Amino acid sequence: MAEKITVSIIKADVGGWPGHALVHPELKVIARNELEKAKGKDIIDYYVSNCGDDLELIMTHRKGADNEDIHRLAWDTFIAATEKAKELKLYGAGQDLLSDAFSGNVKGMGPGVAELEFTERKAEPLVAFFMDKTEPGAFNLPIYKMFADPFNTIGLVIDPSATQGYTFEVWDIKEHKRVFMDCPEEMYALLALIGAKSRYVIKRVYPREGGKLPADEPVSAISTEKLYEIAGDYVGKDDPVALVRAQSGLPALGEVLEPFAFPHLVSGWMRGSHNGPIMPVAQSNAKCTRFDGPPRVVALGFQIANGRLVGPVDLFDDPGFDNARDLAKDVADYMRRHGPFEPHRLPLEDMEYTTMPKVLNKLKDRFQPVE
Ligand code: F6R
Ligand code: MG
Ligand code: MG
Repeated sequence: MAEKITVSIIKADVGGWPGHALVHPELKVIARNELEKAKGKDIIDYYVSNCGDDLELIMTHRKGADNEDIHRLAWDTFIAATEKAKELKLYGAGQDLLSDAFSGNVKGMGPGVAELEFTERKAEPLVAFFMDKTEPGAFNLPIYKMFADPFNTIGLVIDPSATQGYTFEVWDIKEHKRVFMDCPEEMYALLALIGAKSRYVIKRVYPREGGKLPADEPVSAISTEKLYEIAGDYVGKDDPVALVRAQSGLPALGEVLEPFAFPHLVSGWMRGSHNGPIMPVAQSNAKCTRFDGPPRVVALGFQIANGRLVGPVDLFDDPGFDNARDLAKDVADYMRRHGPFEPHRLPLEDMEYTTMPKVLNKLKDRFQPVE
């Protein structure tokens, strides 16, 4: 039995440069130094990146998901980067570190986490996605398309090792409950949930029995941490990350990327309070400067070789995504012309998780009964 490998992305915004635009390069140097010290000990390999103001740590190891050593390594790395962010007076230094002391797992402490433990195949292609200026539910539409929509993934129709479909693990992030749903049979019910992306979020995808891959090893994982829920107050956006394995019984690399040719509307732009198109960009363009956005997604591709990260390839650095970017620019213009009006501004229920309650509170004594 081959040894299992775990790939972990742990991310946090520990300071923006300037404002909420980018991660300062010195923070990435610090992160690389910290992870280099752990290489060959707790971790096999690592890659440090950013999407906008989010510092992204990709680590491979043999310790499984939710491992204390790995989470502590990420936490200590964010603490070290925060010290530099404070020295440079970066914006919101340490903003996603919502607790003073590490207690075994970064979950519930601010950072976002996506982890996959699996038996490494003969060839193991993996894509790491990072988003900025949006929320975990922004992955619902693309993940659904990859693993359930035959108009996106032709493999669901013509690859005998994929026709049995996939199982989706969906979290109700308000009630803190989860449900497993099989596709294609439960596709309509699945869409009833995940179309409401601010509440029902795809957490993991599993192969089904009868396919090429073990049904108990997830093939995709998405971070679902909600900062508002942790902090109890608006402290910024829960910019999500995801991992997706590809090929040989799974969606092909091109089927994994194809959903992003449509820049769908997501929430989280400007003050976490606006809907806007998610723009697929090369890593060098992952900086959010127009109205603090528009929201971005970056895709880095790797082959995994005994835990070694062979890559990355900057997958949206491709003219094939130019039309998506052009459409995103037009949609951004169109949405912006609504200014403070819905549906550019989020509906009132979602504004509850921003600074809006404070504005309403200021007005509360001014309201009088209508005759
Ligand atoms: C941050 C974000 C930004 C900020 C905005 C205001 O994730 O989306 O749009 O909300 O720049 O930031 P403050 O209130 O810190 O001035
Ligand atoms: Mg920020
Ligand atoms: Mg961010």
